Amino acid sequence: MTVMAKKLPLARLGVVGGGQLARMLAPACNNHGVQMLILDSLNNSPAGQVAFDQIEGEPDDPAVLQLLCERSDVVTFDIENVGADILMALADQSIEIVPAPAVIRLIQNKFDQKCHYRVSGIPTADFIDLTEKSSFSDVKAFGLPCVQKAHTGGYDGRGVHIIRSREDWENRLETPSFLEAFISNGTELAVMVARRACGEMAVYDPVEMVVDPKLNLLDYLIAPARVSANVSEAAQELAKKTVESFATPGLFGVELFLTNSGDLLVNEVAPRAHNSGHHTIEACVTSQFENQLRACLDLPLGQTDLQGCALTANLIGEAGYVGCPVIEGLDEFVKIANSHIHLYGKDTCRPGRKMGHFTLIGDDHDELIRRLASIRDVLIVRGDTPQ
Ligand SMILES: Nc1ncnc2c1ncn2[C@@H]1O[C@H](COP(=O)(O)OP(=O)(O)OP(=O)(O)O)[C@@H](O)[C@H]1O
Ligand SMILES: [Mg+2]
Repeated sequence: MTVMAKKLPLARLGVVGGGQLARMLAPACNNHGVQMLILDSLNNSPAGQVAFDQIEGEPDDPAVLQLLCERSDVVTFDIENVGADILMALADQSIEIVPAPAVIRLIQNKFDQKCHYRVSGIPTADFIDLTEKSSFSDVKAFGLPCVQKAHTGGYDGRGVHIIRSREDWENRLETPSFLEAFISNGTELAVMVARRACGEMAVYDPVEMVVDPKLNLLDYLIAPARVSANVSEAAQELAKKTVESFATPGLFGVELFLTNSGDLLVNEVAPRAHNSGHHTIEACVTSQFENQLRACLDLPLGQTDLQGCALTANLIGEAGYVGCPVIEGLDEFVKIANSHIHLYGKDTCRPGRKMGHFTLIGDDHDELIRRLASIRDVLIVRGDTPQ
């Protein structure tokens, strides 16, 4: 066997966006002798605080993206709202960008993404585009209820509007958008997949995203998803097929619906680390971040086996407070075994802002859900000033 020697530091990894995802990529970079360079509009962004170096600038500024590429061996992402066209031109100049900027651009536009699934034979909820001439009778002909989705710019449920009535149609989003069939009472699953340039893939167990029915917001994620072995395997196969269709290396979060009748449909894909892979830091043999790094450096991917069960919940800013973040209940939290907190280092807290998350590890789902309830009673992140 010939063993290839690699020079250290192994690489300079540029990351567009310095949020919590890049912050959690930092330990994997440090452990592997990789210098992480963050591009963010904020100096000392969550990832900028812990990176080897940082560049302050907008993620769609050509000069700044050029500088990031010049100072990096490989470039990857923590966000997808980036100047994809600019990066496409830079990638042509033989700079390694993972995933390919053309795929980032495809994914940025949800309508283009849906069309890609349709032509690639990847099951997805039925959809039609809307035009300025579209009327409520077109919506009724498509079928109510349905979901209006903005072509671009949506995240965390912004850019998604459910239409059940004429009134909902009158309050529609005023932006280029399409209609999608409404999936009623479906289960939301997500599968993380890492892919190397040669096509090797590492696939994680499906995670179940549990939505708060009153708030219509993500409540917590549970791994493995509470589905049959057949469904779990089918979800992994569909996620692999979806990632394969992009034909680029990288880490991808594939969001799926499991319908009442047992069909799996692709909702959307994140071309980066994802909330539904946070538990992999403590619960899997190789974390999503380490596999993201390996995909970027074209190293063999790590095993994805899940040890036991895991539950991840976001720590979001408490209503009624703003200002410098404070945390309540940390002493009680850290006394609970197999409970892991991640705070993102954001310097201001607003109601609803993602300030961190925690992951609970255990042997069964019900025990984790009970532990979650008792933690929520004590653990709070809020601003220091009442609103
Ligand atoms: N066709 C649909 N039928 C029923 N519910 C839907 C449908 N599409 C989206 N939703 C609900 O709205 C949520 C947000 O939709 P989607 O994932 O498309 O948008 P997003 O803004 O990119 O979300 P996020 O950033 O939270 O992933 C979904 O997680 C799901 O709960
Ligand atoms: Mg989504």
